[in-house]
Parts: sequence; structure tokens; C-alpha cells
Amino acid sequence: MRIERLHLARFRSFTTVEWQPEPGINLITGDNGAGKTSLLEAAHLLANGRSFRGSVRDGLIQNGQTDLEVFARWTECGGRSRGAGLRHAGRDWQARLDGQPTTSLAELCTALAVMTFEPGSHELIAGRSEPRRRFVDWALFHVEPEFLPLWRRYTRALRQRNALLKADGSGEQLDAWDVELAQAGEPISRMRGLYIDRLTPMLRRTVATFVPELGEPKLSYLPGWNRDEQSLHAALLKNRGRDRAFGHGTIGPHRADWRIDFDGLPGWNALSRGQEKLVALACFFAQGQAYAALRGEWPAIALDDLASELDRGHQQRVLTDLAALGAQVLVTGTESPPGLLDGIPPAARFHVEQGEVRRLV
Ligand SMILES: Nc1ncnc2c1ncn2[C@@H]1O[C@H](COP(=O)(O)OP(=O)(O)OP(=O)(O)O)[C@@H](O)[C@H]1O
Ligand SMILES: [Mg+2]
Repeated sequence: MRIERLHLARFRSFTTVEWQPEPGINLITGDNGAGKTSLLEAAHLLANGRSFRGSVRDGLIQNGQTDLEVFARWTECGGRSRGAGLRHAGRDWQARLDGQPTTSLAELCTALAVMTFEPGSHELIAGRSEPRRRFVDWALFHVEPEFLPLWRRYTRALRQRNALLKADGSGEQLDAWDVELAQAGEPISRMRGLYIDRLTPMLRRTVATFVPELGEPKLSYLPGWNRDEQSLHAALLKNRGRDRAFGHGTIGPHRADWRIDFDGLPGWNALSRGQEKLVALACFFAQGQAYAALRGEWPAIALDDLASELDRGHQQRVLTDLAALGAQVLVTGTESPPGLLDGIPPAARFHVEQGEVRRLV
């Protein structure tokens, strides 16, 4: 997947900016606060319906403005050219995909594939379960066409059931939503479990590349209820009293998680901060490989502030491998470290300054 054009309007410090990245490695430099991360954030927003730093309400819209716009044009490996645009004004979104209005942001997410590795990425290993669920769901959105409709059904049923639980709704009303949740939730859970299985051999290889000292990784999938013992429907019924007490659903695929363990370590919390980052990086590469195996090309890769995240050896390894795989890479840094791109043909260098993106070579 190759982004050919990115257009931003009223997005953070950019009033309007037009950027045309090249295939291969794109190095974006600029001073602190110049807007490097914002460029990656705009691409990530279009591809994921959310920013990787805080919610949209936390300041994506340029100060003093009432809305923002992001537009991207990209090509898929078969040569198909596609375009998506997003306008966001306060609470309200409007999105278009290939010239047509879309009813949900999730449709953009299934079309444009951007994977981002940034200073918060170690949260995948050390943080709450939500980024780990999102990680797996990202893959399923892109490779399993049935996943999006199921996910929508599940999300809607969960919302309705939670509203009923809060309002002390009748057992009969809850029965209906339990059936709906179970019908959507069981296949979601199965797909997630299968994906984790598919990822495991790839993760073994990427851990051996990036953090060999940790030994063999073991991935475990936690479905969000005791799936070996009972169906989701039975579990929902059994937990109804507790759900009523809490006022929301306490079990099910929305509580799913996965974890990674290593032979020689008591648990992921024994990892150093740097190792957390490297394990997150190994997961990131495994995810890219799993995507490429099914889609025939790598997603566009955004690497924010790579030099502050990884030591020089790992930075070089990441860029060399991604260049060899033919991925389009958008990588930011305050400077271009001497020697970093040795042996890697950089496609293009850009400099961000005073609200503009300038091509250097
Ligand atoms: N809503 C907003 N309106 C106007 N300006 C904003 C808004 N949000 C952020 N900014 C400014 O936009 C710039 C965006 O910074 P960004 O994080 O993209 O920079 P960066 O080049 O990645 O910097 P660093 O090297 O420090 O990571 C900053 O100067 C910030 O103060
Ligand atoms: Mg930045």
C-alpha cells in the first residue's frame, strides 16, 4: 500500500498542507514542535478513525477553528487507486471513501492500512487490554471481510444491553440482547483466536530477530469468558446478576485480551522498558507479515521519532528490513542521524518548518 498524497486542513499547527510521499523510505525531519508527528497522526487518523495520542477532542482541530479535514490518495498493490477524506467538527464526523459518503469510520479503517510505531507503542505489551484488542481487530478488519459486520452487531448489542442493565430492564428484554451478543460474539472470538494462532510462528521469528535474548515467545488468547467451559450465551445468563449490579456487561469479547510470555521470564512485567519496546516492535513486524501474507503487500508504515525509541542497531535493522520488503515507510526524527540510512536507498527526505513540508532530495 502506497500513500501518494496526504492533504491536511486546520489540523493541529497546519493551516493547510499538501504532502506527496514517495514509495520506499521517506525521512521527515524538523525541529521539536514543527509538525512531524502531526503528519503521521493525520494518516493514522484516516486509517484508524482515531489518533494515537489522545482523543480527537484533545486538540487535533487547529486552535481557533471549528473543524479539520484530512484527505489521502493511495494505491493498492494491484494498481487500484483509492481516496478517502474525513471532516471532523466537534462531535460530528463526515467521511468519504472513493468519492462516496460512508456511514461509518470503520469502513475507512478496512480500506486504508497504516501501521504506526510511536513512543506509546510499548503500551501494547505493558498497558491495558484495549490496545491489544485493537491490535488484533485491526488485522481482522483488513483480512476478514465478515469481521466488520459482526463487530458492528456486537458493539450495538453491547450498548443496548448495557443501557438495559443500567435501567434495570426486564429479563425478557435482556434475553433478546443476550442472543444477539452471543451470535455476534462467538464468531468474533473464534476469529481472534485463530488470528493469534496464525501470528504465533511469525512472532517467534520476529522475536528471534529483534530480542533473541528473551527466548521463545508464547502467545495466549484470553477470550473474555471461560470459553472452554461454557458458551457465551450461557456465560451471559450466568453473569446476569453481576452485570445488573455493575450496570454493564462484565464478560464477553469486549473484555478479551492476549498475552505474551517468555520461557526465561516470570511474566511480561519482568521486561525492561527497552525490551517492552522491542517486543512491541516484534509484534508490529509479525502483524505486518501476517497482513502481507494475505493481502500481497505491506501496509504503509509510520515510525514516529524512531531514533528516540530504539538504539542505532535496531533502527537500522528496522529500516533495512522494511526497505527490503518493499514497504512504504514514513519515518520522523529531529535530524537525519549520520550513517542511519547507509546501504538503504532513501526514497525521499522532507523537512517540516513553519507549517510547510519541503522536499529536500
Ligand atoms: N490544536 C492545535 N492548534 C494549533 N497548534 C497545535 C495544536 N495542537 C498542537 N499544536 C502545535 O502543533 C505542533 C505539532 O507538533 P508535533 O507534535 O506534530 O511536532 P513534532 O515535529 O512531532 O515535534 P517533536 O519533535 O517535539 O516530536 C506543536 O508546535 C504544537 O504546539
Ligand atoms: Mg513528534
